[in-house]
Amino acid sequence: MAKDLVNFKIREECEVLQMSDKQIKEIMSRLHTDLKKGLCKDTHDKATVKCWITYIQDLPNGKERGKFLALDLGGTNFRVLIINLGENHFDMQSKIYAIPSSIMTGTGIALFDHIAECLANFMKEHNVYNERLALGFTFSFPLRQLGLTKGILQRWTKGFSCSGVVGEDVVQGLKDAIARRGDVQIDICAILNDTTGTLMSCAWKNHNCKIGLIVGTGSNACYVEKIENCDLFDGVPGKKELLINTEWGAFGDDGALDFVRTEFDREVDNSSINPGKQIQEKMISGMYMGELVRLALVKFTKAGLLFGGQGSDLLFTKGCFYTKYVSEIESDKPGDFTSCMEVLEELGLSHATESDMAAVRHVCECVSRRAAHLVSAGIAALINKMDEPRVTVGIDGSVYRFHPHFHTLMTEKIATLIRPGITFDLMLSEDGSGRGAALVAAVACRQQEGR
Ligand code: BGC
Repeated sequence: MAKDLVNFKIREECEVLQMSDKQIKEIMSRLHTDLKKGLCKDTHDKATVKCWITYIQDLPNGKERGKFLALDLGGTNFRVLIINLGENHFDMQSKIYAIPSSIMTGTGIALFDHIAECLANFMKEHNVYNERLALGFTFSFPLRQLGLTKGILQRWTKGFSCSGVVGEDVVQGLKDAIARRGDVQIDICAILNDTTGTLMSCAWKNHNCKIGLIVGTGSNACYVEKIENCDLFDGVPGKKELLINTEWGAFGDDGALDFVRTEFDREVDNSSINPGKQIQEKMISGMYMGELVRLALVKFTKAGLLFGGQGSDLLFTKGCFYTKYVSEIESDKPGDFTSCMEVLEELGLSHATESDMAAVRHVCECVSRRAAHLVSAGIAALINKMDEPRVTVGIDGSVYRFHPHFHTLMTEKIATLIRPGITFDLMLSEDGSGRGAALVAAVACRQQEGR
């Protein structure tokens, strides 16, 4: 087939990955409806976007002081942190521990024992083994919270499937594991989502920060909602606001996104460990983005449109096109294919021509742009709903952090979707949600001490 025709065909095939403004606005409106369903007592049980209440009503005010521990579990890594909050400064040390896949898919007991062991080792290394410390636990999975220190796991996401935890209180699971060891003294002061941790962490520096967003292994957002809209909360009188963890990754689980889903999305979903669940997340996040690209490349190769019809074992193997490749390939300047060539060589596709490389980049761009637009639709829906004159969105996650154009794509798109007169900005969280966990624990302590 002539080169131009091939190019044309690939571009044509990729059109399914492009969402029109009309479609994006339809997505916003459906999400808005779903957010309201999640918040409302009568519709909450059936809602796909659960809008869980977090029991966090106070953002940091800078007066938080002291030494805190934090745990951060929810992506590919698990982190333990120790944080010292002082006046206008803090210092933080942390260590990353791997979670072997045998633990991710093993028993809940083994997971919590592993966490407690890492925690105890970390405390030894940082000479606080004999101290009694407060801890904030970032646990980034859907939780029905019954208080600041009680959260019932609703479902696992992002490849976790530890048995015996869904339906149980995660804080109790960790407490039991710490008690089984019997060596360290820890007060778990708060359990929170990574979106919440990110919001708190950014709000410490920027008081306009009212949305926390993660575009990493998974996707989710939390925001500050007016208390009169929080039907499910009968909390402290006198407080006007509450943080809501939307769990928007589940948006589309009832078919709401079917009108923009593609054959690649359906395949990613069908071959996942949680088919039918986390539909929006599977169109956006780092756990799935590379695989979406791979499936498109496989289709085009088999149709003879790419690589002279000749693939490679790695190209044909599920999970072998990493999401980081998308960021690398899109980091090449126009007309340059250095990173693209390296990636294709790694995949055993060194026979790729320049026009193959241009096509591969085009596929990556379509998939990542669609993800950025879906996230933008969600953020714009939240900003419009909140109806504040100025909103900062605190953001974390590997896709947002490392993709070269995600920030710009989002900034441009959100600007076209929000109501006139509202201003917004997107702020990268510098220290991750771990510091947010320590801050939530600190705010809880500050309140107990009446500061
Ligand atoms: C989880 C959320 C989390 C998000 C980002 C999703 O899979 O359900 O709780 O915030 O990933 O880590």
